[in-house]
Amino acid sequence: MGLLDRFRRRPPPEPATADLATVRAYFNEASANEDHYPTSIDPRILFVRRVLEHLGDLNRGVAADIGSGKGRFARLVKDQNPGATVVSLDIAETMLERIPGDIAKVAASMTQVPLRTGSVDGAYAVESLEHAVDIEAAVAELCRIVKPGGRIVVIDKNAQAWGRLETPAWERWFDQKDLEKLLKQHCRSVRSEPISYWEDVAPDGLFLAWYAVK
Ligand SMILES: C[S@@+](CC[C@H](N)C(=O)[O-])C[C@H]1O[C@@H](n2cnc3c(N)ncnc32)[C@H](O)[C@@H]1O
Repeated sequence: MGLLDRFRRRPPPEPATADLATVRAYFNEASANEDHYPTSIDPRILFVRRVLEHLGDLNRGVAADIGSGKGRFARLVKDQNPGATVVSLDIAETMLERIPGDIAKVAASMTQVPLRTGSVDGAYAVESLEHAVDIEAAVAELCRIVKPGGRIVVIDKNAQAWGRLETPAWERWFDQKDLEKLLKQHCRSVRSEPISYWEDVAPDGLFLAWYAVK
């Protein structure tokens, strides 16, 4: 290894070109890997707590988990808000097979969400926007389905940390300010912060959380 190699960042990716069929096939197969795509998550993990806090009380409301995977977040949103209608949307049918019966399932792309405009009180996307390929369309859809005053959370990876993990060719990580700007095109307030898994561990720069109010 040359002297400079340890300082060099992996170059930013080429523009995403994968089609949705490729992404769907990848995740339909990947769902068998329970270690990488788990069905449950420890509710003490900050990602969960921040999603629940920002969404607030959703009893009698509707929450949408966009790119839900097997619904590890949706389960906890439903536990916390038993009176809420919780919708899990994912492009991969095999992921949705793991969603429990008290959660509605929608097999669709987050770039074309088959829910009415303003029909949802809170929506969130955890580690899924990075796979959307058409990021602008996905953010527009995430915000479109939320009613005015409704809440949105995105948790995803930080472009500054690009190269730290192996990624499929279409995956994109986000500049904190750029995604804030994109969300601000649709929402009246947006803030963001670095986030770690555990409260007593400082963020290491890999994950960011964005919180918006439409
Ligand atoms: C890394 S997993 C995260 C799953 C879940 N949010 C979680 O934290 O457990 C990414 C998920 O996004 C889904 N996904 C990828 N592209 C999508 C798209 N265009 N529309 C909807 N879901 C998509 C995948 O099928 C996969 O379940």
